[in-house]
Formats: sequence, structure tokens, C-alpha cells
Amino acid sequence: MSVQIIIDDCIAALRSMASESVDCVVTSPPYWGLRDYGVDGQIGLEATLSKHLEVMVAVFEEVKRVLKPGGTCWVNYGDCYASTPNGRSAADTKALGTDDRTFRDKPFSTVGPICADGPPSTSTRSQSGKNPKGQTGNTKRIMAGGYLKPKDLCMVPNRFAIAMQDAGWWVRSEIIWAKPNPMPESVSDRPSGAHEKIWLFTKSAKYDYDANAVLQPVSKNTHARLSQDVMNQIGSDRANDSFDSALSLPVTKRNLRNVEPAPVEVWNIPTAAFSEAHFATFPPELARRCIEAGCPKGGMVLDPFGGAGTTGLVADRLQRDCILIELNPEYAAIAEKRIDTDRGGLLDAMEAVA
Ligand SMILES: C[S@@+](CC[C@H](N)C(=O)[O-])C[C@H]1O[C@@H](n2cnc3c(N)ncnc32)[C@H](O)[C@@H]1O
Repeated sequence: MSVQIIIDDCIAALRSMASESVDCVVTSPPYWGLRDYGVDGQIGLEATLSKHLEVMVAVFEEVKRVLKPGGTCWVNYGDCYASTPNGRSAADTKALGTDDRTFRDKPFSTVGPICADGPPSTSTRSQSGKNPKGQTGNTKRIMAGGYLKPKDLCMVPNRFAIAMQDAGWWVRSEIIWAKPNPMPESVSDRPSGAHEKIWLFTKSAKYDYDANAVLQPVSKNTHARLSQDVMNQIGSDRANDSFDSALSLPVTKRNLRNVEPAPVEVWNIPTAAFSEAHFATFPPELARRCIEAGCPKGGMVLDPFGGAGTTGLVADRLQRDCILIELNPEYAAIAEKRIDTDRGGLLDAMEAVA
């Protein structure tokens, strides 16, 4: 399989790609106001949340164009609390050994109006609230009048999902990535944060989804309960000629859920340790579930925010082709080395395009 790394701004790179050429998108965009990736043109440092969401929706308009009609788009997106900068750089935080992907770099203040221009006046909105395609596409609509006070949870993933829905995407699932080893937070007036969201978006109501590829084992308790139910049925008036089919029960597998209570750890994935100089990798297991469920074997996976290449690494292991787009050449080099090492040095099928 091939992994192509395009070193460029994601919108520019996406525009160079053919329409409907991708089966599955698995990505984790830069989170708003959390860290500085140290490269011009990076997304995530927009002065207002409204501006950030506008840019994000524009990126995903291009993603929608390159995605096949039956494609799936999985987006891992984290939140933040409105605050002023904490004065500590990303490098300092990492040096303290407390770094994980949720640490607060806080390059600028996220306190203030959500939309710098203020709420849109009613005269700028159509009566129906719909754009000419018949979709509600005004991202300002959901942010009218908002102001982020110090300590407010910004609700970025939720606002993003609503903006995507307004832009015509189907929101098919809100998945909770529960972290068993979250970064410790020194707070005593709220619970510590221990999750991020993964949205499953699609271009249409019908799409390719292989539920069998990500079936989960039922727990011992469920197994015992189902067995008991079957035995009760056999002993009841309802048990008759269906005895044989009843004997094939209870099932040992069940559908993947969007969140799993402890101790069954389905989306309960440790933040994977990764020693290279990239701050925000997501765990390979997370990418595996998205790709196995959302991309046919031999299909094409895309990550428009490639980072250290987790999506490419996992796609390659799962016999899918992959295109990674990454703005920072240093991260692209990390991704290339990482995937190459994982393959045992089989560089020939991998190309980096600058
Ligand atoms: C959250 S990280 C992705 C991490 C990745 N999922 C992994 O596991 O390694 C977001 C990445 O987006 C990149 N990025 C920021 N702005 C970009 C842009 N305009 N175009 C392409 N990549 C960009 C950053 O350099 C960063 O590596």
C-alpha cells in the first residue's frame, strides 16, 4: 500500500486532489487556542472562535468534495477553557514531563466575544435561514451574542459539529474517547477533564460502514444474563420450535458503542506515548477503529492534518492507501520516519511531496 505525504497548507493541498477520490477521512485538527505548532499559515490561532470555526468549515468543504458519496469522515476534536495565556511555552510544559495532547500552550487569550463582529444583524440572514442550496450554512447563526467568560468551557467540538451540520454534513455519531490516563489538572471547582470527542460525519444518509469489522465481545455479565434469558425462554410457553435457533444464542459479540462504561474499555484508550517532538498524536487504536469501520480494504484514507502520521501508519498496517497533508515539514519528516520504521524500512511505496 502507499502512503503519500503532502507538505502544504491543507486547503491548498485538498484543492489539488481529485473529487470523490477518498473513502475515509480520519483526522485530529489543531484545537483552537491550545498550542503553537510554530509554522506560518497554521490553523488554531484565529483571534476568535467564530473565525476558527469558519476556517474549519472551509477546510471540510474541500474534504467533502474529495470524499466519495459513501465515504466517512471521523474528526477527533478537543475543547478548551476560556483563559488568558499561562505564560508557559509548549517546550517548557514538555520539559516538565506533564505533556500530553491536552496541555494548555495558551498562545493567546481565548476570553472575549465569540464573534469579533458581534452577532449578525437579522437583516443579513435570510428569512428561512437557508442558503441557496437549501442548507442552513451561516456559521455565525449559532454564535450570535456569545461571549466567553474566563473559565468558560468553550464547547468547540459541539459548535464545530453544529456548523458542519449547517454546512450540509450528516452528524452520525458523537463518540467519547475516554482517557484512562488524562493529564492531571489542578482544579478544585469542577471535575477534571478526561475525554475528547470524535465525530462521525457523512456526506449522505447511506454510506459505507462495516459494523462487523469492529464488533466487540460481550461482557461476562451480559453473556450470563443472555444465557439466563435463553434458558427462561426455553422453559416458557414461548419456547417451541425455535429451540434450535435459541441454542445458538447467546451471542458473544455486539455492536461497537459510542461510549463504554468502565471497566469494558472500548473507546477507553490510553494516550499513546510517543517520544518524537510532536505534541499531539492520537492513539493508533483510535485510528484503527475508524478505518476498519469506515474504509473498505484497499480503499483510500486521508488525514488533512497529518501531524506525526498516526493515521498513515495505521492505514498502512490495515492495507489501505493513505494521503497525509501536513504544513510543518519537521512533522512530515517525523511521520515519514515513523511509518518507514514501522514497515521495517520499505520506503519504496512511500513518497513525500513538498
Ligand atoms: C493535532 S495535530 C495532528 C496529530 C495527528 N493526528 C497525529 O496523530 O500525529 C494537528 C496538525 O495540524 C498541522 N496543521 C496546522 N495547520 C495546518 C494547515 N493549515 N494545513 C495543514 N496542517 C496544518 C499541525 O502542524 C499539526 O501537526
